[in-house]
Amino acid sequence: MACAVVLPSCAMQCRRALCKRWLHLSGRKSMASSAHLHIPPMLSKPRQRRRQFHWTTGYRSRDVEFTHVRYNVQRLGFAAITTEDMAFFNDLLPGSVVTDPDILEASNVDWLRTMRGCSQLLLRPRITEEVSQILRYCNSRNLAVNPQGGNTGLVGGSVPVFDEIIVSTVQMDNIISFNSNSGVLTCQAGCILENLNNYLEEQDFIMPLDLASKGSCHIGGNVATNAGGLRLLRYGSLRGTVLGLEVVVTALRRSWIYSRNPKACWVKFSLRLSSWITVAERLFASTLNYKTHCKALWALRERITEALVRDGFVYKYDISLPLERFYEIVIDMRNRLGVRAKRVVGYGHLGDGNLHLNVVSPAFDQQLLDSIEPYLYEWIAQHYGSISAEHGLGFKKKNCIYFSKPKEAVDLMQQMKAILDPKGILNPYKTLPSFTRSTH
Ligand code: MLT
Ligand code: ZN
Repeated sequence: MACAVVLPSCAMQCRRALCKRWLHLSGRKSMASSAHLHIPPMLSKPRQRRRQFHWTTGYRSRDVEFTHVRYNVQRLGFAAITTEDMAFFNDLLPGSVVTDPDILEASNVDWLRTMRGCSQLLLRPRITEEVSQILRYCNSRNLAVNPQGGNTGLVGGSVPVFDEIIVSTVQMDNIISFNSNSGVLTCQAGCILENLNNYLEEQDFIMPLDLASKGSCHIGGNVATNAGGLRLLRYGSLRGTVLGLEVVVTALRRSWIYSRNPKACWVKFSLRLSSWITVAERLFASTLNYKTHCKALWALRERITEALVRDGFVYKYDISLPLERFYEIVIDMRNRLGVRAKRVVGYGHLGDGNLHLNVVSPAFDQQLLDSIEPYLYEWIAQHYGSISAEHGLGFKKKNCIYFSKPKEAVDLMQQMKAILDPKGILNPYKTLPSFTRSTH
């Protein structure tokens, strides 16, 4: 296997009916008569309104400790890049092969500034065929690959651990089609979530997910991790809205329904969307400037993550618990850590029982980490929760998988990975545990 790219589609139920009702009440023409098949020119780009996060107080990527040092990881036996490899990539992707250390620095470090790889090569393909060729070549040469979208992941899944070649979807940011009758959007994996939403809002549609990182995250990463986010309760899980995926596997292009990292690298997605303005929203919008108030309120919630990162080193946990226990662990952890933690906070997505427990200390502190783990995971398992609700396992949580999954399920995942990626070149050191549990 090499890598895959897909088109997820999102299906929203009932919204069309509500819209029709409002249209009837408001005297507007029916949706049927106003709807049109809108197919933008192939490879059209959504408007760019990227929201960037700016670091303060002289932060430099080079200050972050290398992942393999901090976590004591041994490099697996992948090949090293040769002059011939460089010649191949330059020929395949003229102008899209990056070796400049200053540019690579940003792609080697995660958003939380807790992980750092040492990749020396960043590739920026534009189309599926190029991804396919990259993966076919890397597979034949035994070169490890790290697919990367917006690099907003919070579990170390999006940055290399060693010198894996970074294959970025940043130039795969085209909307292929949108049909306002079916609500189906087809786009490439590198489209930024907020850009897609802006594009759809102009047509009274909405993306079925909303995340704090929407200004940077790519839809490919959202689908690969089945991201939850702020609209989950209303529109359901993202996987339910994905209609199809175009996937490159061992240099073959396939259509998939759904998959997760690291078996595939999403290239293109089809999503079914819903008309977003309900009757209530229309009424509020006209009288109370409801949308502006909502946006201001949500902006506060969406900036918690950023605020915490400015506060110090963040130990980030993304867990699910029965609602009756939802906040208990925050209090428990505060008592347990005492003054050793600068801050212990809990926020999340109450609707789906997803709690983000965050501990902050002035700098990385191994002893503090040892006080949190495995205590936290044992607590979660004891209360029938899950160690990963939304962010995935990535690098940081991979060895905790057995707290939430039985050995049989993990074995099955490992077998699937081996079928799709027999050499294990795709996003190594991530998601699946580095050891196999022998018994229950
Ligand atoms: C959120 O809910 O804001 C995101 O998942 C990020 C975070 O957990 O901090
Ligand atoms: Zn969240």
